[in-house]
Amino acid sequence: MTAAPSTTVPSTTTPADGAPVVARAHAKINLALRVGAARPDGYHPLVSVFEAIDLAETVTAHPRPAGTPLTCAVAEDSPYGAGLGTGADNLLVRAGEAVAAAMRAHGREPGSAHLVVRKEIPVAAGLAGGSADAVAALLACDALWGAGLGREDLHELARGLGADVPFALDGGVAIGVDRGDRLTAVVPAPGTAHHWVLAVSGRGLSTPAVFRHLDARGDAPATPAAADDLAAALRGSGGPCHPVDLAPLLVNDLTEPALDLRPDLGDTFAAAERAGALATLLCGSGPTIAALCLDRPHAESVASVLRGAEVASDVLVVRGPVTGAALV
Ligand code: C5P
Repeated sequence: MTAAPSTTVPSTTTPADGAPVVARAHAKINLALRVGAARPDGYHPLVSVFEAIDLAETVTAHPRPAGTPLTCAVAEDSPYGAGLGTGADNLLVRAGEAVAAAMRAHGREPGSAHLVVRKEIPVAAGLAGGSADAVAALLACDALWGAGLGREDLHELARGLGADVPFALDGGVAIGVDRGDRLTAVVPAPGTAHHWVLAVSGRGLSTPAVFRHLDARGDAPATPAAADDLAAALRGSGGPCHPVDLAPLLVNDLTEPALDLRPDLGDTFAAAERAGALATLLCGSGPTIAALCLDRPHAESVASVLRGAEVASDVLVVRGPVTGAALV
């Protein structure tokens, strides 16, 4: 276990006995998602440019006596997550167990917890809501039990929980390679703010199913394409990248496989374009579609047209980039 607390993750302290601990972690959009053909382990090599957006999961860790099972629940006032499984395979529980295992590996006895998530991120939407749950649970349990995990430890645990989980820890903008989980931060030019409208589908789309369909199509290159132009544009030279210049650089190689599985998404793309979006983009493996806008008023107007088009179960206006996960 590294002793030094992270520079980006707030230092962990042991709360007063009985006090719950609260942590928040954000959703993401992939500004670029370049995908190569499946590796022998089934994962796909990626070049992914992530941007954290201002939709967040809030996880409250309530202390429970050591030795009792870790449990989780979805808060009743959650906008999303009704009917979500809360068994031992839930990422909240798996994240808590990962912190407990890390403590035991160092001869320390963890406590237990009941983890309650308020889900603001749609489920199975391509926005990494499950990854945000996992990261918020890592931070909350770390603080609740005084584990004192450092940044490296948290990253390692995050990587073990899923390919998108390390980015949920870091936030901001980053390029991920390998499974998408080896991250290099991209520091956008000062003043960078992207305004998006998210068209959320009433039905989720399975990430493994979309990747399997990409394999079945057989058109993925051995190594994913680069995203250097996008990263350079985001870093800017003499000011933030204008959304009009960003628009043609947005790309997602999972778009065609997702459209094969969900042809109805074609109507959503078309409606977002008709509504005046600068560009449209599938979020991760879908089915959420993001519409890039000029500014907040433009996003509000695109959202209002999209709501009227009735092509999405929910239409949300969001902004990126935002910071990584943190205790509240
Ligand atoms: O890592 P995580 O469990 O979040 O990934 C979910 C699924 O997405 C994997 O089981 C795999 O089918 C697919 N995936 C992939 N290649 C990646 C990331 C995810 O094939 N780089």
